[in-house]
Amino acid sequence: MKVTVVGAGAVGASCAEYIAIKNFASEVVVLDIKEGFAEGKAMDLMQTASLNGFDTKIVGVTDDYSKTAGSDIAVITSGIPRKPGMTREELIGINAGIVKTVSSNLIKHSPNVILIVVSNPMDTMTYLVHKSTGLPKNRIIGMGGALDSARFKYRLAEALEAPISDVDGMVIGGHSDTGMVPLTRHATRNSVKVSEFLSEERLSQVAEDTKVGGATLTKLLGTSAWYAPGAAVSSLVQAIACDQKKMFPCSVLLDGEYGLKDICIGVPVILGKNGIEKIVDIDLDDAEKAKMQESAVGVRATNGLLEV
Ligand SMILES: NC(=O)c1ccc[n+]([C@@H]2O[C@H](COP(=O)([O-])OP(=O)(O)OC[C@H]3O[C@@H](n4cnc5c(N)ncnc54)[C@H](O)[C@@H]3O)[C@@H](O)[C@H]2O)c1
Repeated sequence: MKVTVVGAGAVGASCAEYIAIKNFASEVVVLDIKEGFAEGKAMDLMQTASLNGFDTKIVGVTDDYSKTAGSDIAVITSGIPRKPGMTREELIGINAGIVKTVSSNLIKHSPNVILIVVSNPMDTMTYLVHKSTGLPKNRIIGMGGALDSARFKYRLAEALEAPISDVDGMVIGGHSDTGMVPLTRHATRNSVKVSEFLSEERLSQVAEDTKVGGATLTKLLGTSAWYAPGAAVSSLVQAIACDQKKMFPCSVLLDGEYGLKDICIGVPVILGKNGIEKIVDIDLDDAEKAKMQESAVGVRATNGLLEV
């Protein structure tokens, strides 16, 4: 199992670290455009191998795609992150060009690769990869919902004063401050609906805190977060690499599912060795359906800014 991570910045390096620590891949190639940067990150990470007990080989390269040849999975984190006060959508101008070039280079050297898109605005970048590469839709996956769901569970546990392992919940919809749809009605604590423990008002607060989860961290850190994004990506990579058939909300190209077509947006999917094994159609009530449609309007508006 060979995995490439493009972008050795905050998210890319964190992702490579979590993949290595989980010890399921033989090799992780980290590629960056900045001279020597990926080599440095890879060497630093390799020097944690004896301490953290992993055998995954991490290799850093400067813009040399020949070293990525034969990758089973590639993660695209290259591009600029947002600064405090910025929306993810404002990154489109710079990131679209980067994501388009990077995905084409990856496919040239690894024609069977499964791509995981992380760069923002992620739903639109995932759509761009579909339009520009023509890869089968099971092999293009946008990561956003896995992170947003982890943030949702964190906020739920906080409100419930419960350990996070007691809590389950999912966020679907667009990966944006306004587009996320936290499914509070479906969230549970050990299979008991959280609405049995929390007032409607407290649950709305949990949903709002989840939606601005990224912006809250960007304000505190001065740049976009990386630990939870890296961990979320590594979970998707592991589900595919180990054919786990796990369910995650991911941004995928829809063709009528959830009443939507020709758009990439977060919905629950099963991940296994073929990438997206299945899109799971869950039962949404009218309010949730309306939020999903509204979210799609926002994603389409950003897609409209693309020059494909
Ligand atoms: N989808 C999500 O849930 C999620 C979460 C967090 C961050 N992000 C996004 O991920 C991206 C990366 O964030 P970060 O914090 O790691 O940024 P960063 O600035 O720390 O790292 C980005 C790296 O990409 C490299 N790069 C730029 N152009 C490149 C190219 N053409 N080829 C190879 N490498 C190139 C840069 O040199 C840099 O090292 C941003 O767009 C951010 O918004 C997405």
